[in-house]
Amino acid sequence: MKTRITELFGIQHPIIQGGMHYVGFAELAAAVSNAGGLGLITGLTQRTPELLANEIRRCREMTDKPFGVNLTFLPVLTAPDYPGYIKAIIDGGVKAVETAGNNPQKWLPALHEAGIKVIHKCTSVRHSLKAQAIGCDAVSVDGFECGGHPGEDDVPNFILLPRAADELKIPFVASGGMADGRSLVAALALGAEGMNMGTRFIATQEAPVHQNVKDAIVAASELDTRLVMRPLRNTERVLRNAAVDRLIEKEKALGASIKFEDIIDEVAGVYPKIMTEGAMEAGAWSCGMVAGLIHDVPTVKVLIDRIMAEAEAIITQRLARFAAS
Ligand SMILES: Cc1cc2nc3c(=O)[nH]c(=O)nc-3n(C[C@H](O)[C@H](O)[C@H](O)COP(=O)(O)O)c2cc1C
Repeated sequence: MKTRITELFGIQHPIIQGGMHYVGFAELAAAVSNAGGLGLITGLTQRTPELLANEIRRCREMTDKPFGVNLTFLPVLTAPDYPGYIKAIIDGGVKAVETAGNNPQKWLPALHEAGIKVIHKCTSVRHSLKAQAIGCDAVSVDGFECGGHPGEDDVPNFILLPRAADELKIPFVASGGMADGRSLVAALALGAEGMNMGTRFIATQEAPVHQNVKDAIVAASELDTRLVMRPLRNTERVLRNAAVDRLIEKEKALGASIKFEDIIDEVAGVYPKIMTEGAMEAGAWSCGMVAGLIHDVPTVKVLIDRIMAEAEAIITQRLARFAAS
C-alpha cells in the first residue's frame, strides 16, 4: 500500500511502531522494519548517547530496512543530554526520528541537514499545526484512547483525526487505539496516511519484555486502563493494578495540592521492574484502551501481514459492496 507516509519513510506498509520506554529496543524496531513497517528505537531508554549509538548499530545488524529513533522531550528541570542523543542519531545514519513531548524546533535544522525525516507526536490539532509550522515532515496524531500521555484535551480519534485532516497539509498517521486492519482502514477513511501502534506491538513475540507484560495485555479489556497524574497536568493512561489504585487514592486525598514527590513510589523507576522483571504490581505503566482488542501474541510479521490482508479485504470487499449498492 502506497501513502504519503510510506513514500516519506521509504517503507512498504503505512505502519509505525511508536517509541516505548523499555520496549523499543533494537529487537522490536528491527522486527517491525523487517516486516515492512517503520520500527523505532526508544532513545531515552538508552541511558547515554553512547548506549544509543550502540543500540542503533545493533539494529542495523538485524535489518537493512529503514528504522528510526524516538526522542521524547521531557518536561524536567535537568534535561537528558539531548545534543548527545541527536549526534548519536545523525552519526548512526538513522533517517527517521519520532519526536514527542516538548517542541522539537531547536533540533530540526541539524536533523534535516542530515537528511532525517521528523514525525512529531501530537495530541491536539493546535500542536499538530505548530509542528507543521516549525517544519516537521509529518505528525502522529495521538487520540485520547492512546497508551501513554494523551494530553489534557481528551479528544478521541473519531473527532481528532478528521479535525487534523481538515487543517493539516503535511501527512499524518493515526495513533492511539490502533490494532488491526479495521483500524488502518478507519484511519485512512478519517484522513490519515497510516497508523502508529504502541500497545499492540508489546504483545508480539519479538517485543523484548517479560511474558507477564504480554499476558497482562491479552488479559485486559478496554475497561482496564486508568488516567493518572491529571492533577500534575502530566496525564498518563496506564493499566490498572494495585499501585495505580493507590496512586488514584492519593490523588483523591491530596487534590490540587499533590506533588510529584507524593506519588514517586508509584511512578519512578517502574519500567525496568515491569518490562524486564515482570513485577506487574511495581507501579504505573502505560497501556492503551486498545488492550481490549488484543487477544494474541503473534510475531510482528504475522501481525503486520494480517493487518494488511484484513485492510485490503475490507477495502475491496466490504466497502466495495457498499459503494456498489
Ligand atoms: C509502555 C509504553 C511506553 C511508552 N513510552 C513512550 C515514550 O517513551 N515516548 C513516547 O513518545 N511515547 C511513548 N508511548 C506512546 C506510544 O509511542 C504510542 O504513541 C501509543 O502507545 C499509541 O497508543 P496505543 O497504545 O493505543 O497504540 C508509550 C506507550 C506505551 C504503551
